[in-house]
Amino acid sequence: MLMKKFFGMALSCAVLLLALTACNSNNAQQSAPAPDKLSVLKEILQVRKSIRQFDTTKVVSDEVMLDILWAANGINREDGRRTAPSAVNAQDIVMYVCQGDGTYLYRPAEEVLEKVSGTDIRPIFAGRNSFALNNPVIMLMSDYSKFSRFGAEAAAKFGAMDAGYVSQNIYMYCAAADMATVACAPGINQKAVQEALMLPETMISLIYHPVGYPAE
Ligand SMILES: Cc1cc2nc3c(=O)[nH]c(=O)nc-3n(C[C@H](O)[C@H](O)[C@H](O)COP(=O)(O)O)c2cc1C
Repeated sequence: MLMKKFFGMALSCAVLLLALTACNSNNAQQSAPAPDKLSVLKEILQVRKSIRQFDTTKVVSDEVMLDILWAANGINREDGRRTAPSAVNAQDIVMYVCQGDGTYLYRPAEEVLEKVSGTDIRPIFAGRNSFALNNPVIMLMSDYSKFSRFGAEAAAKFGAMDAGYVSQNIYMYCAAADMATVACAPGINQKAVQEALMLPETMISLIYHPVGYPAE
């Protein structure tokens, strides 16, 4: 009887010890630094900058463009959430690629570009940013209808903030890929863009990014 009790206690101690060891090794894994990831992140941040001089002889391939768009605001989780955060997970930012042969809508679920217009709409919004006319441009629009329950002021605030995260992702991709980009925002004629792409008044163009390769 005593012997049985002793073995019982010994077994419980062994199980406890094993559990503690497993727990410690889990903690060790969780708190272990990831110097490789951090140094890559810091390297990219170190070289992030706006570049306005592009080598227009180097074409951005479809594959690279889709890669930029995924990094910008693609789906990175099984539940459909994105690489960029969005207020109330509205996922309001819609990306268009504007170039010489027309305008393309990025479809994140399929990771494809769908041609929605044969018109080059860059002259509508480029204004004094003439460098945007010779490169593919990613236009970030916010679908304000996703925020209708919060009112117009909140929609404008949320939309602008959400676009900012996507914009930074584009900067980060370009920095990592030795590519060139610059965020541009002022003076977009909303009505003209909406009419050209047959979009409702709730689709607001917030920031656009010409993307390409830096001039030597
Ligand atoms: C919201 C926003 C709008 C901008 N608009 C323009 C623009 O229209 N034209 C331009 O050349 N740069 C534009 N920029 C880029 C800024 O001028 C640039 O980020 C700033 O000078 C700092 O330089 P850096 O990005 O190299 O750090 C804009 C940046 C932001 C965030």
